[in-house]
Amino acid sequence: MKIVVVGTGYVGLVSGVCFSDFGHEVICVDKDQAKIDMLRGGKVPIFEPNLDTLMQSNMAAERLSFTDNLASALEGVDAVFIAVGTPTRRGDGHADLQYVFAAAEEIAKSLTGYAVIVTKSTVPVGTNREVEKVMRAAVPDLDFDVCSNPEFLREGAAIEDFMRPDRVVIGVETERAADVMHAIYRPLSLRDYPVLETDLETAELIKYAANAFLATKITFINEMAMLCEKVGGDIQMVAKGMGMDARIGNKFLQAGPGYGGSCFPKDTLALARIGQEHASPMRIVETVIEANERVKARMIDKILEMCDDNLRDKKIVVLGVTFKPNTDDMRDAPSLTIVPALIGRGAEVIVVDPQGQAEGEALLPHVKWIENPYRAVNNADAVVVLTEWNEFRGLNLKRIAKKMRSPRMADLRNVYNRQDVLDAGFEAYVPVGIG
Ligand code: UGA
Repeated sequence: MKIVVVGTGYVGLVSGVCFSDFGHEVICVDKDQAKIDMLRGGKVPIFEPNLDTLMQSNMAAERLSFTDNLASALEGVDAVFIAVGTPTRRGDGHADLQYVFAAAEEIAKSLTGYAVIVTKSTVPVGTNREVEKVMRAAVPDLDFDVCSNPEFLREGAAIEDFMRPDRVVIGVETERAADVMHAIYRPLSLRDYPVLETDLETAELIKYAANAFLATKITFINEMAMLCEKVGGDIQMVAKGMGMDARIGNKFLQAGPGYGGSCFPKDTLALARIGQEHASPMRIVETVIEANERVKARMIDKILEMCDDNLRDKKIVVLGVTFKPNTDDMRDAPSLTIVPALIGRGAEVIVVDPQGQAEGEALLPHVKWIENPYRAVNNADAVVVLTEWNEFRGLNLKRIAKKMRSPRMADLRNVYNRQDVLDAGFEAYVPVGIG
């Protein structure tokens, strides 16, 4: 199969690289010439484990290339994947589809034979039909089908998720399109990974439903954690006990400082808007959005309480600011709410993050970045574990406690054990959901 991927952001790049690794011929297209030059040089603009080596090996095998010229890339193509951004539109919470439609129109104008136009970007119900309309309007006699093929990749584990998916969803309307899509994913179906074929709307909804449900699961456990703090109880054990019920499952029950990232906040908001617009309110999702804000606010209160309700001139070291480990992504990270709130209350904040600085510098302008956690904690009044990077799981706590002015730790990911922290010389240890 010959595949063109439009947009070399997170989803586009991972999909393009993995499709080429399946053995397909893949051309990734982006308007950003600097990005294309970087990719051609074998460099990956984002941090995703193993993506660079997989990309380089497929480039060397001449299955994967990069260009800013869409028209030439489309020659003889079987499927064109649209993987451009769908950010939240300012003001109304809707997904902004201007980039999707612009890409669709451009593809229509350059296509020379039959191809399946596949939307990978997360888009509201009905968008694939709109894509079809936009393309028909641009070139009325064009021979093409549309397909909705949502992605379920987790940042930091994207290659693994692509290569060993729980399922692949393809929303199609014609057998011809289905055949192309099944051929593209044959390397997975041959290994018994399920490929679920649905209509367009169902595929679009599966994506939103899955993300909103996962965000709900996290928020549920976060609210349970707050309850544990009030009534006594250990959220880790509550989650374990719940998760042992196969109907519930043990994944995504890790209490923390609230969900963030490029997907859950944006997609829950978009689904709530879709429901409102169709007079079919998604009350649970609306509540989840609100509750997630309360969870973040609770984290600020916890840090404040730990520091005797006074942050003025206190030196606080924040370990981890990306929205989760193994990514440099700062989008909607809880740190973007929590860190400014600490600074606003007079604290001096030092940040340690293995990958976050490049993106984080502009977003967290008033913090000091220090690479080495042992240097960062010199004379500090509190350490806050905000993102559970492996680097922060096995710190020498004694060494840290000795260097701090007043050794206190807020462990917002429950990485440590209370007794270990106290034995190391800390005066206070504040986890999440352990009353
Ligand atoms: C999420 C979904 O997991 C993917 O299936 C989906 O494809 C992707 O969104 C998307 O729509 O593109 P991602 O945002 O990369 O993936 O990250 P997750 O691992 O799902 O984590 C999201 C947030 O939830 C993070 O802030 C994380 O810290 C938090 N989380 C996750 C918890 O607080 N507790 C948990 O138990 C799990």
